[in-house]
Amino acid sequence: MSNKNDFLKYQAQISKTPLLINVKKATGSYVYDDNNKRYIDLVAGVSSCTLGHSHPSIIKAVKEQLDLHTHVMVYGEFIQQKPLELAILLAKYLPVKLNCTYLVNSGTEAIEGAIKLAKRKNRRKTVISCFNSYHGSTQGSLSAMGANYMKKNYEPLIPHHRNIRYNNFEDLSVLDKDVSSVIIEPVQGGTNFEVAQKKWLKEIRKICTKNSIELIYDEIQTGIGRTGKMFGYELSGVKPDIVCLAKGLGGGMPIGAFVSSKKNMSYLSVNPSLGHITTFGGHPVCCAAAVATIRTLTSNKIIEKVESKRQLFLEHLSHPKIKKIHGIGLMIAIELENEKSCNKFVKKALEKGVITFYFLFNKNCIRISPPLTISLNDIIESCSIIKNVLDDC
Ligand SMILES: Cc1ncc(COP(=O)(O)O)c(C=O)c1O
Repeated sequence: MSNKNDFLKYQAQISKTPLLINVKKATGSYVYDDNNKRYIDLVAGVSSCTLGHSHPSIIKAVKEQLDLHTHVMVYGEFIQQKPLELAILLAKYLPVKLNCTYLVNSGTEAIEGAIKLAKRKNRRKTVISCFNSYHGSTQGSLSAMGANYMKKNYEPLIPHHRNIRYNNFEDLSVLDKDVSSVIIEPVQGGTNFEVAQKKWLKEIRKICTKNSIELIYDEIQTGIGRTGKMFGYELSGVKPDIVCLAKGLGGGMPIGAFVSSKKNMSYLSVNPSLGHITTFGGHPVCCAAAVATIRTLTSNKIIEKVESKRQLFLEHLSHPKIKKIHGIGLMIAIELENEKSCNKFVKKALEKGVITFYFLFNKNCIRISPPLTISLNDIIESCSIIKNVLDDC
């Protein structure tokens, strides 16, 4: 039986239309299938493979860590070099008050931890997040998701969650003293990469400070260079109380983190102690990959080149069928006519050797979120293929 049949039979499916590339290997910005067909990867595991595939610095770091030790103890008991180094690095690049990291396994676990930390601190119930936000698929993160159609068949979820409109000032009136936390993505990953307005974030910050609400940024997609800044909060300069990271942090290895002040984090160790437990959170091999990702990004000045790479995409993506291009940095959303044209486009582009993808909520847009290391030639080649596909569609 073919891999495809086995995949469809034995691995749980979450859609009727998986892309079904039969992956043999992946290096740099390329994925190869079992027939050695090369695909230019413009999705990077949905903003995860920051340095592309199999970056030598990540391979080296992972191998070195494997030779030393893998899992030795549940989170928080033993001192392990790579998790410690990662926490110190995050404190170095985040605002002074965000100086203490709790390492977890995924984005959704980071969100769960952040919501719990806020509740533990201010003992309030209500959690505010935005319509069209995606924060993960476990019960707490799902409760925060800004789309009822995704939630209603999984009810009952966690009560006291409310959604507000992104970039809408009127809706901020719900941010009263009953609210525990508000979760904001600096750029919405599930829409057309809509960017939060500085004025709006400033107003949220002001209200949160006044009403002692914890402001949580979901930087699971924006974190670690993707917007052209190390962190998405730098776009506005408006700082959160808690920041959640995952995806690109691990450069292709599974990791998550929520970061806050040392004072805030101390709530997790008292009344009750062990306020958030994770077995594999901060796995040393994943932390080694994350440290290598951050060090390579900074030493090779990769983030500094994100904006010029975006401009190159924009320059080469002029086509009558493209209605508009949205987003920031290497979060690029190409708006086409409608959902049907997007579906057709993604399939045709794949046939022609370019991986693109959809958005969860905006069905008229195509996602481009390539490795930050993508070469200028690969940008030009992939744009030329995209235009050919659009001619054919
Ligand atoms: C903005 C955002 N938050 C949270 C998550 C959840 O991350 P994970 O899939 O690692 O649980 C995602 C994943 O796509 C995301 O894009």
